[in-house]
Amino acid sequence: MTYNPVYEREPFTDFEQVTPSTPLEALNLNWRERDLPERIRTKHVHRLHPYLGKFVPQLAEIFLRKYQPKVVCDPFGGSGTTLVEANALGLDSVGCDISAFNCLLMKVKTDRYDLFVLERDILDIIEKVRLGVAFPLFSKSLDDLDTDNEYLKRWFAPKALRELLYYRSFIPNYRYQDVLKVILSRSARSSRLTTHFDLDFPKSPQTTPYECYKHSRICQPTDDALQFLSRYSLDTLRRIREFSQIRTDAKVTILHGDAREAAFPEIDAVITSPPYVGLIDYHEQHRYAYELLDLPIRNEQEIGAASKGSSKRAQEAYIAQIEQVFSNIRKCLNKNGVVVILVHDKNGLYKDLASQVGFRLKEKYERHVNRRTGRRAGDFFEEILIWEPK
Ligand SMILES: C[S@@+](CC[C@H](N)C(=O)[O-])C[C@H]1O[C@@H](n2cnc3c(N)ncnc32)[C@H](O)[C@@H]1O
Repeated sequence: MTYNPVYEREPFTDFEQVTPSTPLEALNLNWRERDLPERIRTKHVHRLHPYLGKFVPQLAEIFLRKYQPKVVCDPFGGSGTTLVEANALGLDSVGCDISAFNCLLMKVKTDRYDLFVLERDILDIIEKVRLGVAFPLFSKSLDDLDTDNEYLKRWFAPKALRELLYYRSFIPNYRYQDVLKVILSRSARSSRLTTHFDLDFPKSPQTTPYECYKHSRICQPTDDALQFLSRYSLDTLRRIREFSQIRTDAKVTILHGDAREAAFPEIDAVITSPPYVGLIDYHEQHRYAYELLDLPIRNEQEIGAASKGSSKRAQEAYIAQIEQVFSNIRKCLNKNGVVVILVHDKNGLYKDLASQVGFRLKEKYERHVNRRTGRRAGDFFEEILIWEPK
Protein backbone atom coordinates (compact mmCIF):
# COMPACT_ATOMS: atom_id res chain seq x y z
CA MET A 1 0.00 0.00 0.00
CA THR A 2 1.31 3.49 -0.80
CA TYR A 3 0.48 6.37 1.48
CA ASN A 4 0.88 10.00 0.70
CA PRO A 5 -1.30 11.94 3.12
CA VAL A 6 -2.87 15.11 1.87
CA TYR A 7 -0.34 17.89 2.15
CA GLU A 8 -2.83 20.46 3.43
CA ARG A 9 -3.60 18.42 6.55
CA GLU A 10 -1.67 19.46 9.66
CA PRO A 11 1.66 17.58 9.73
CA PHE A 12 2.27 15.16 12.56
CA THR A 13 4.61 16.47 15.28
CA ASP A 14 3.46 14.69 18.43
CA PHE A 15 6.32 12.21 18.21
CA GLU A 16 6.08 10.89 21.76
CA GLN A 17 2.57 9.64 21.05
CA VAL A 18 3.72 7.04 18.49
CA THR A 19 3.20 3.46 19.67
CA PRO A 20 3.30 0.09 17.88
CA SER A 21 -0.41 0.47 17.11
CA THR A 22 -0.09 3.89 15.45
CA PRO A 23 -1.16 3.40 11.83
CA LEU A 24 1.29 4.82 9.35
CA GLU A 25 -1.44 6.35 7.25
CA ALA A 26 -2.38 8.54 10.21
CA LEU A 27 0.94 10.29 10.04
CA ASN A 28 1.43 13.26 7.78
CA LEU A 29 5.22 13.54 7.57
CA ASN A 30 5.25 16.35 5.02
CA TRP A 31 6.75 18.88 7.38
CA ARG A 32 7.36 22.43 6.36
CA GLU A 33 9.96 24.60 8.04
CA ARG A 34 7.40 26.02 10.45
CA ASP A 35 6.15 22.56 11.47
CA LEU A 36 9.59 21.19 12.26
CA PRO A 37 12.05 24.09 12.44
CA GLU A 38 15.75 23.60 11.89
CA ARG A 39 16.56 24.12 15.58
CA ILE A 40 14.44 21.03 16.44
CA ARG A 41 15.81 18.96 13.56
CA THR A 42 19.34 19.79 14.67
CA LYS A 43 18.80 19.56 18.42
CA HIS A 44 21.63 18.62 20.82
CA VAL A 45 24.32 16.42 19.26
CA HIS A 46 22.64 16.20 15.86
CA ARG A 47 24.43 19.46 14.96
CA LEU A 48 27.83 18.62 16.40
CA HIS A 49 29.36 18.86 12.94
CA PRO A 50 27.98 19.63 9.46
CA TYR A 51 27.20 16.56 7.42
CA LEU A 52 25.58 16.58 4.01
CA GLY A 53 23.02 13.79 3.53
CA LYS A 54 21.63 13.51 7.05
CA PHE A 55 18.03 12.52 7.61
CA VAL A 56 15.57 14.17 9.94
CA PRO A 57 16.02 12.62 13.43
CA GLN A 58 12.28 12.72 14.05
CA LEU A 59 11.79 10.15 11.26
CA ALA A 60 14.11 7.74 13.03
CA GLU A 61 12.29 8.47 16.28
CA ILE A 62 8.86 7.71 14.78
CA PHE A 63 9.92 4.33 13.40
CA LEU A 64 11.81 3.40 16.56
CA ARG A 65 8.73 4.16 18.64
CA LYS A 66 6.51 2.25 16.23
CA TYR A 67 8.63 -0.90 15.93
CA GLN A 68 10.40 -0.82 19.34
CA PRO A 69 13.27 -3.10 18.32
CA LYS A 70 15.64 -4.52 20.92
CA VAL A 71 18.53 -3.82 18.55
CA VAL A 72 18.32 -1.47 15.57
CA CYS A 73 20.95 -1.32 12.85
CA ASP A 74 21.90 1.42 10.41
CA PRO A 75 24.29 -0.13 7.86
CA PHE A 76 24.86 3.37 6.43
CA GLY A 77 25.23 5.06 9.79
CA GLY A 78 26.52 8.41 8.46
CA SER A 79 26.47 11.03 11.17
CA GLY A 80 24.71 8.67 13.58
CA THR A 81 21.11 9.93 13.52
CA THR A 82 19.55 6.49 14.04
CA LEU A 83 22.03 5.62 16.81
CA VAL A 84 21.48 8.85 18.74
CA GLU A 85 17.69 8.52 18.56
CA ALA A 86 17.80 4.83 19.53
CA ASN A 87 20.00 5.55 22.51
CA ALA A 88 17.68 8.31 23.73
CA LEU A 89 14.86 5.75 23.70
CA GLY A 90 16.91 3.13 25.55
CA LEU A 91 17.32 0.85 22.53
CA ASP A 92 20.59 -0.86 21.57
CA SER A 93 21.99 0.09 18.18
CA VAL A 94 24.64 -0.83 15.63
CA GLY A 95 25.95 1.60 13.04
CA CYS A 96 28.34 0.91 10.20
CA ASP A 97 30.02 3.32 7.82
CA ILE A 98 32.84 3.12 5.32
CA SER A 99 33.96 6.63 6.23
CA ALA A 100 36.28 6.83 9.25
CA PHE A 101 35.25 10.41 9.94
CA ASN A 102 31.57 9.45 10.09
CA CYS A 103 32.42 6.69 12.57
CA LEU A 104 34.28 9.25 14.68
CA LEU A 105 31.19 11.48 14.62
CA MET A 106 28.89 8.60 15.61
CA LYS A 107 31.19 7.74 18.50
CA VAL A 108 31.51 11.30 19.79
CA LYS A 109 27.75 11.83 19.61
CA THR A 110 26.85 8.67 21.48
CA ASP A 111 29.70 8.29 24.01
CA ARG A 112 29.19 8.69 27.73
CA TYR A 113 31.22 11.52 29.29
CA ASP A 114 32.30 12.70 32.68
CA LEU A 115 31.01 16.21 32.04
CA PHE A 116 33.38 17.75 34.53
CA VAL A 117 36.43 16.28 32.76
CA LEU A 118 34.97 17.11 29.34
CA GLU A 119 34.51 20.76 30.27
CA ARG A 120 38.02 20.90 31.70
CA ASP A 121 39.52 19.35 28.52
CA ILE A 122 37.62 21.59 26.12
CA LEU A 123 38.30 24.82 28.01
CA ASP A 124 41.91 24.01 28.83
CA ILE A 125 43.00 23.28 25.28
CA ILE A 126 41.35 26.38 23.85
CA GLU A 127 42.94 28.53 26.55
CA LYS A 128 46.37 27.13 25.69
CA VAL A 129 45.82 27.92 22.02
CA ARG A 130 44.58 31.44 22.79
CA LEU A 131 47.63 32.14 24.96
CA GLY A 132 49.96 30.68 22.37
CA VAL A 133 48.50 32.86 19.64
CA ALA A 134 48.53 36.00 21.82
CA PHE A 135 52.03 35.47 23.26
CA PRO A 136 53.96 33.38 20.77
CA LEU A 137 57.29 34.16 22.43
CA PHE A 138 56.24 32.57 25.70
CA SER A 139 54.70 29.43 24.27
CA LYS A 140 55.64 26.43 22.24
CA SER A 141 56.57 28.14 18.96
CA LEU A 142 53.80 28.26 16.41
CA ASP A 143 56.43 28.39 13.70
CA ASP A 144 57.62 24.88 14.54
CA LEU A 145 54.26 23.68 13.33
CA ASP A 146 55.17 23.32 9.71
CA THR A 147 53.41 20.80 7.54
CA ASP A 148 54.27 19.40 4.17
CA ASN A 149 50.63 18.51 3.52
CA GLU A 150 49.85 20.16 0.17
CA TYR A 151 46.07 20.07 0.69
CA LEU A 152 46.31 21.91 4.00
CA LYS A 153 48.74 24.49 2.63
CA ARG A 154 46.47 25.12 -0.33
CA TRP A 155 43.14 25.40 1.52
CA PHE A 156 44.09 27.44 4.57
CA ALA A 157 45.65 30.85 5.07
CA PRO A 158 49.01 30.47 6.87
CA LYS A 159 47.70 32.01 10.12
CA ALA A 160 44.57 29.82 10.24
CA LEU A 161 46.59 26.71 9.48
CA ARG A 162 49.08 27.47 12.26
CA GLU A 163 46.22 27.86 14.75
CA LEU A 164 44.66 24.57 13.67
CA LEU A 165 47.98 22.74 13.85
CA TYR A 166 48.68 24.31 17.21
CA TYR A 167 45.34 23.05 18.57
CA ARG A 168 46.02 19.63 17.08
CA SER A 169 49.43 19.44 18.76
CA PHE A 170 47.79 19.57 22.22
CA ILE A 171 45.08 16.94 21.60
CA PRO A 172 47.14 13.92 22.75
CA ASN A 173 47.33 15.46 26.25
CA TYR A 174 43.61 15.05 26.93
CA ARG A 175 41.16 12.29 27.85
CA TYR A 176 38.39 13.14 25.39
CA GLN A 177 40.57 13.40 22.30
CA ASP A 178 37.82 12.42 19.89
CA VAL A 179 35.64 15.34 20.96
CA LEU A 180 38.57 17.69 20.44
CA LYS A 181 39.13 16.20 16.99
CA VAL A 182 35.53 16.98 16.08
CA ILE A 183 35.90 20.58 17.32
CA LEU A 184 39.10 20.88 15.29
CA SER A 185 37.43 19.50 12.18
CA ARG A 186 34.38 21.74 12.46
CA SER A 187 36.63 24.78 12.92
CA ALA A 188 38.75 23.73 9.96
CA ARG A 189 35.66 23.49 7.80
CA SER A 190 34.73 27.09 8.64
CA SER A 191 38.24 28.46 8.29
CA ARG A 192 39.02 27.07 4.84
CA LEU A 193 39.71 29.50 2.02
CA THR A 194 36.17 29.27 0.66
CA THR A 195 33.33 31.60 -0.11
CA HIS A 196 30.60 31.82 2.53
CA PHE A 197 28.06 30.41 0.08
CA ASP A 198 29.97 27.30 -0.91
CA LEU A 199 31.11 25.50 2.20
CA ASP A 200 29.79 22.11 1.09
CA PHE A 201 31.82 21.43 -2.04
CA PRO A 202 34.14 24.33 -2.82
CA LYS A 203 36.03 23.69 -6.04
CA SER A 204 39.12 25.80 -5.54
CA PRO A 205 40.45 28.02 -2.75
CA GLN A 206 39.20 31.61 -2.64
CA THR A 207 42.19 33.80 -1.89
CA THR A 208 40.87 37.25 -2.84
CA PRO A 209 37.81 39.34 -1.82
CA TYR A 210 34.64 38.23 -3.61
CA GLU A 211 31.01 39.20 -4.09
CA CYS A 212 29.14 37.17 -1.50
CA TYR A 213 25.60 36.05 -2.46
CA LYS A 214 24.91 34.99 1.11
CA HIS A 215 25.68 38.36 2.70
CA SER A 216 25.02 40.61 -0.34
CA ARG A 217 28.35 42.40 -0.01
CA ILE A 218 32.03 41.98 -0.73
CA CYS A 219 33.47 39.40 1.66
CA GLN A 220 37.03 38.42 2.43
CA PRO A 221 38.17 34.81 2.82
CA THR A 222 39.15 34.19 6.43
CA ASP A 223 42.70 33.90 7.71
CA ASP A 224 41.57 33.02 11.22
CA ALA A 225 40.73 29.70 12.88
CA LEU A 226 40.83 30.74 16.51
CA GLN A 227 37.41 32.40 16.48
CA PHE A 228 35.88 29.14 15.20
CA LEU A 229 37.81 26.98 17.65
CA SER A 230 36.50 29.16 20.49
CA ARG A 231 32.92 29.26 19.23
CA TYR A 232 32.65 25.53 18.51
CA SER A 233 34.30 24.60 21.81
CA LEU A 234 31.43 26.17 23.71
CA ASP A 235 28.79 24.93 21.29
CA THR A 236 30.09 21.34 21.50
CA LEU A 237 30.10 21.42 25.27
CA ARG A 238 26.56 22.74 25.34
CA ARG A 239 25.29 20.13 22.88
CA ILE A 240 26.91 17.17 24.62
CA ARG A 241 25.61 18.42 27.98
CA GLU A 242 22.12 18.68 26.52
CA PHE A 243 22.20 15.16 25.11
CA SER A 244 23.60 13.77 28.36
CA GLN A 245 20.28 14.70 30.01
CA ILE A 246 18.47 12.14 27.87
CA ARG A 247 21.29 9.70 27.09
CA THR A 248 20.67 6.15 28.33
CA ASP A 249 22.96 3.19 28.98
CA ALA A 250 21.69 1.35 25.89
CA LYS A 251 24.55 -0.23 23.99
CA VAL A 252 25.94 1.49 20.88
CA THR A 253 28.20 -0.49 18.54
CA ILE A 254 30.05 1.25 15.72
CA LEU A 255 31.62 -0.71 12.88
CA HIS A 256 34.03 1.03 10.57
CA GLY A 257 33.75 -0.98 7.37
CA ASP A 258 31.91 -1.94 4.25
CA ALA A 259 28.26 -2.77 4.95
CA ARG A 260 28.42 -5.46 2.24
CA GLU A 261 30.61 -7.59 4.44
CA ALA A 262 30.36 -6.18 7.96
CA ALA A 263 29.74 -8.73 10.70
CA PHE A 264 26.48 -7.39 12.13
CA PRO A 265 25.12 -8.93 15.33
CA GLU A 266 21.54 -10.22 15.56
CA ILE A 267 19.16 -7.30 14.96
CA ASP A 268 15.39 -6.65 14.99
CA ALA A 269 15.15 -3.60 12.79
CA VAL A 270 17.00 -1.53 10.24
CA ILE A 271 16.40 2.19 9.85
CA THR A 272 18.60 3.63 7.17
CA SER A 273 19.04 6.04 4.30
CA PRO A 274 21.45 4.56 1.78
CA PRO A 275 23.79 6.74 -0.26
CA TYR A 276 22.16 7.45 -3.61
CA VAL A 277 23.81 7.01 -6.98
CA GLY A 278 26.11 9.84 -8.10
CA LEU A 279 24.89 12.32 -5.49
CA ILE A 280 27.49 12.90 -2.77
CA ASP A 281 31.14 12.02 -2.15
CA TYR A 282 31.01 11.20 1.53
CA HIS A 283 34.76 11.09 2.10
CA GLU A 284 35.41 14.20 0.04
CA GLN A 285 32.88 16.34 1.93
CA HIS A 286 35.12 16.02 5.02
CA ARG A 287 38.45 15.97 3.22
CA TYR A 288 39.93 18.62 5.56
CA ALA A 289 39.26 16.26 8.49
CA TYR A 290 40.97 13.34 6.78
CA GLU A 291 44.00 15.51 6.08
CA LEU A 292 44.21 17.09 9.53
CA LEU A 293 43.46 13.96 11.54
CA ASP A 294 45.28 11.54 9.26
CA LEU A 295 42.27 9.23 9.00
CA PRO A 296 42.26 6.18 6.70
CA ILE A 297 40.49 6.78 3.38
CA ARG A 298 38.35 3.99 1.91
CA ASN A 299 36.53 5.90 -0.81
CA GLU A 300 36.98 3.07 -3.31
CA GLN A 301 34.40 1.12 -1.29
CA GLU A 302 31.99 4.04 -1.05
CA ILE A 303 28.72 3.05 -2.72
CA GLY A 304 27.16 5.52 -5.17
CA ALA A 305 29.94 8.13 -4.88
CA ALA A 306 29.32 11.27 -6.94
CA SER A 307 32.77 10.86 -8.50
CA LYS A 308 31.56 7.60 -10.10
CA GLY A 309 28.73 9.45 -11.85
CA SER A 310 25.11 8.42 -12.41
CA SER A 311 25.34 6.81 -15.86
CA LYS A 312 23.36 3.66 -16.63
CA ARG A 313 26.48 1.66 -15.81
CA ALA A 314 26.99 3.49 -12.52
CA GLN A 315 23.34 2.80 -11.64
CA GLU A 316 23.72 -0.91 -12.34
CA ALA A 317 26.89 -1.14 -10.28
CA TYR A 318 25.20 0.85 -7.51
CA ILE A 319 22.11 -1.31 -7.17
CA ALA A 320 24.20 -4.50 -7.28
CA GLN A 321 26.20 -3.16 -4.34
CA ILE A 322 23.09 -2.10 -2.43
CA GLU A 323 21.76 -5.63 -3.01
CA GLN A 324 24.87 -7.05 -1.37
CA VAL A 325 24.32 -4.84 1.67
CA PHE A 326 20.72 -5.96 2.18
CA SER A 327 21.60 -9.62 1.55
CA ASN A 328 24.18 -9.26 4.29
CA ILE A 329 21.60 -7.61 6.55
CA ARG A 330 19.03 -10.30 5.82
CA LYS A 331 21.29 -12.92 7.47
CA CYS A 332 21.23 -11.23 10.87
CA LEU A 333 17.68 -9.83 10.92
CA ASN A 334 15.18 -11.65 13.15
CA LYS A 335 12.34 -13.35 11.31
CA ASN A 336 9.85 -10.81 12.70
CA GLY A 337 12.16 -7.92 11.98
CA VAL A 338 11.53 -4.88 9.84
CA VAL A 339 13.57 -2.76 7.45
CA VAL A 340 12.81 0.93 6.95
CA ILE A 341 14.59 2.56 4.04
CA LEU A 342 14.44 6.27 3.25
CA VAL A 343 15.41 6.97 -0.29
CA HIS A 344 14.81 9.52 -3.00
CA ASP A 345 14.69 6.86 -5.70
CA LYS A 346 14.28 9.06 -8.76
CA ASN A 347 15.52 6.30 -11.09
CA GLY A 348 13.26 3.56 -9.68
CA LEU A 349 16.27 1.43 -8.74
CA TYR A 350 14.65 0.06 -5.58
CA LYS A 351 11.50 -1.11 -7.38
CA ASP A 352 12.28 -4.84 -7.38
CA LEU A 353 14.98 -4.86 -4.78
CA ALA A 354 13.05 -6.29 -1.80
CA SER A 355 12.19 -9.63 -3.41
CA GLN A 356 15.72 -10.01 -4.80
CA VAL A 357 17.24 -9.92 -1.34
CA GLY A 358 14.74 -12.06 0.58
CA PHE A 359 12.19 -9.44 1.67
CA ARG A 360 8.71 -8.38 0.72
CA LEU A 361 7.55 -4.78 0.47
CA LYS A 362 5.04 -4.28 3.25
CA GLU A 363 4.34 -0.60 2.87
CA LYS A 364 5.53 2.33 0.87
CA TYR A 365 5.13 5.88 2.03
CA GLU A 366 5.85 9.06 0.08
CA ARG A 367 6.92 12.19 1.81
CA HIS A 368 7.31 15.63 0.38
CA VAL A 369 10.67 17.01 1.45
CA ASN A 370 10.83 20.75 1.28
CA ARG A 371 13.83 21.26 3.49
CA ARG A 372 16.10 18.49 4.53
CA THR A 373 18.62 19.02 7.33
CA GLY A 374 21.71 20.63 5.90
CA ARG A 375 20.62 20.18 2.29
CA ARG A 376 20.41 23.12 -0.03
CA ALA A 377 18.59 21.22 -2.77
CA GLY A 378 15.03 22.04 -3.79
CA ASP A 379 11.84 20.12 -3.07
CA PHE A 380 11.46 16.45 -3.88
CA PHE A 381 9.56 13.34 -2.85
CA GLU A 382 11.30 10.84 -0.63
CA GLU A 383 10.13 7.27 -0.33
CA ILE A 384 9.95 5.34 2.88
CA LEU A 385 10.05 1.64 2.05
CA ILE A 386 9.05 -0.81 4.73
CA TRP A 387 10.16 -4.38 4.17
CA GLU A 388 9.62 -7.58 6.11
CA PRO A 389 11.52 -10.85 5.68
CA LYS A 390 9.93 -13.32 3.21
C1 LIG B 1 22.75 9.02 3.17
S1 LIG B 1 24.16 8.79 4.17
C2 LIG B 1 23.47 8.26 5.71
C3 LIG B 1 23.10 9.41 6.58
C4 LIG B 1 22.53 9.04 7.92
N1 LIG B 1 21.21 8.49 7.81
C5 LIG B 1 22.49 10.26 8.83
O1 LIG B 1 21.41 10.74 9.17
O2 LIG B 1 23.55 10.79 9.13
C6 LIG B 1 24.90 7.34 3.53
C7 LIG B 1 26.18 6.88 4.23
O3 LIG B 1 26.57 5.64 3.64
C8 LIG B 1 27.98 5.54 3.77
N2 LIG B 1 28.48 4.49 2.86
C9 LIG B 1 28.71 4.55 1.53
N3 LIG B 1 29.17 3.36 1.09
C10 LIG B 1 29.22 2.53 2.15
C11 LIG B 1 29.60 1.18 2.34
N4 LIG B 1 30.06 0.42 1.33
N5 LIG B 1 29.49 0.64 3.59
C12 LIG B 1 29.05 1.40 4.63
N6 LIG B 1 28.71 2.69 4.51
C13 LIG B 1 28.78 3.25 3.29
C14 LIG B 1 28.46 6.95 3.46
O4 LIG B 1 29.76 7.16 3.97
C15 LIG B 1 27.40 7.80 4.13
O5 LIG B 1 27.81 8.20 5.40
